Amino acid sequence: MRRPDTRQTILRHGPVVRIAHALLALSVIVLIVSGLGMAERLPGQAVSMLGGHVWLGDLHRQLGLVFGVAVAGLMLFGPAAGRRLIRDMCRFRRGDATWFRSFVRYVLAPSRHRPQSHDGRFDPGQRIVFAVILGSAAVLTVSAAALYLAPVGSTSLLAWALRIHVVAAVIFIAALAVHVLVGVGLLASHRNIGRVMFGDGRVKQGLAYTLWPTWTAGQITDSNADAVAGQQHGTPAAASGHTDLARRLDKARPE
Ligand code: HEM
Repeated sequence: MRRPDTRQTILRHGPVVRIAHALLALSVIVLIVSGLGMAERLPGQAVSMLGGHVWLGDLHRQLGLVFGVAVAGLMLFGPAAGRRLIRDMCRFRRGDATWFRSFVRYVLAPSRHRPQSHDGRFDPGQRIVFAVILGSAAVLTVSAAALYLAPVGSTSLLAWALRIHVVAAVIFIAALAVHVLVGVGLLASHRNIGRVMFGDGRVKQGLAYTLWPTWTAGQITDSNADAVAGQQHGTPAAASGHTDLARRLDKARPE
């Protein structure tokens, strides 16, 4: 197999997606910080520095309303890409269950192991994290709507909506922390991955092939695919239940 050009990159995300992601990330961070400030889960000094408890509460309620309506509107009536994104985030295949063990080995020793192939645009781990983020965001939105719309005096409904909102927020923040931890590219297994969202949108072909083999093969020409496969070492078992392409990609990796 030909020696690969390890400097080659491919485009993972175009500018529109990167700008949308940056706006999404910024709004979600403001919502989390203002929500924590409002719930007195931040040190008093930090709350004062950020404008105070009341101001943070107003910001959280107003931005939350705009954000919830905008995201729900985009998902329902926006471009098909939004619905495709949700489908790509939440579709699991039979062979995905065995991927996780190979991924843990890869994260612990990236120079010695490769994760098993899969067919997705996102790997099964990303899909789980995204599914938890989406599910908890949906619960956050519904419970927030209940807090807005509950008739005055319905204290038990308000108390339940608030309890559910807080639990969903904890799950949302935990899943997001995993996403950010991997997404900033500090793990040796995901070095420089942040560039795909906060840089020029490109990723080294070798890393792309390791993380999303079938997607990568679809993006590059056949001859390039051979070259990229040539730079892989370690041969994870081909996943049962995956497409022929994923199995062929596994086989293409030299022993
Ligand atoms: C601020 C820290 C964040 C970092 C470093 C980060 C990093 C990343 C990276 C590297 C990707 C690309 C993954 C891939 O191509 O497979 C990504 C995708 C994504 N992130 Fe983030 N992210 C951050 C915050 C957020 C927040 C707050 C959200 C909202 C809940 C979010 C939602 C998403 C979504 C939905 C995608 C998939 C976009 C697509 O493929 O079209 N991210 N992120």
